[in-house]
Amino acid sequence: MADRFPLISGNWKMNNNHFEAIQSVQKLSYALTKDDYEVVEVSVHPPFTDVRSVQTVIEADKIDIRLGAQNCHWETKGAFTGEVSPAMLAKLNVVYVIVGHSERRELFGETDEDVNKKVLAVLGQEMTPIMCCGETSTEREAGAAESKVERQVKEGLAGVTKAAVAELVIAYEPIWAIGTGATATAQDAQNMCAHIRSVVSDNFGADAGAGVRIQYGGSVKPTNAAELMSQADIDGALVGGASLDPEDFSRIVNWRLEA
Ligand code: PGA
Repeated sequence: MADRFPLISGNWKMNNNHFEAIQSVQKLSYALTKDDYEVVEVSVHPPFTDVRSVQTVIEADKIDIRLGAQNCHWETKGAFTGEVSPAMLAKLNVVYVIVGHSERRELFGETDEDVNKKVLAVLGQEMTPIMCCGETSTEREAGAAESKVERQVKEGLAGVTKAAVAELVIAYEPIWAIGTGATATAQDAQNMCAHIRSVVSDNFGADAGAGVRIQYGGSVKPTNAAELMSQADIDGALVGGASLDPEDFSRIVNWRLEA
């Protein structure tokens, strides 16, 4: 990890109702200290029904955790039944929005073009996208992992300014490692994150490549976080299952103590 400020994000997916969400954030805040926030940024990404509740507890208790969302539509408002707009999230002081998670792509048919529209819309509301990319095991075995990730990064970030690319977050999440307990080796994760950084540099310039934060995601746990986080091009983690347990998640945030 270079001098980029690390970001550890908890993606709760479709878990925790709003009561459970409040409890979870409070427990997490008890497990973290003021010093932790000076060396690492932490975000939580609850389901939409919990976002207002989590915002209220974070702001009332002055908890230094960033509020996140898991998805959004690209339009500001309109006839899009069931969707939530970036403007609505911005109004709740959401800071980070996960865009193009593999579950959105694989289960709900999101294309690179959709992801790109969402990235631009999130930036348009002065929030920061965490844009996900990653290959399936079949693609990896066929030697197509790098080219797929390159396409996702290039198409997902099309039309974004160099300055904005330098400030946003990309999450590399090999699909075969998500929720399976199978983590990429730290070396494989590092290799792909370095590849992503070079794709960003080639397309948006050296400053964007040096500035963009790249998270690794896929079965990150307290026991493997330190090794992953010690890699030169890994600047954080996007954590699913282990973020549901505030104790486990706080240990990942404190990966330095686990090393
Ligand atoms: P996992 O999920 O940590 O449960 O593998 C990661 C993610 O999908 O963001």
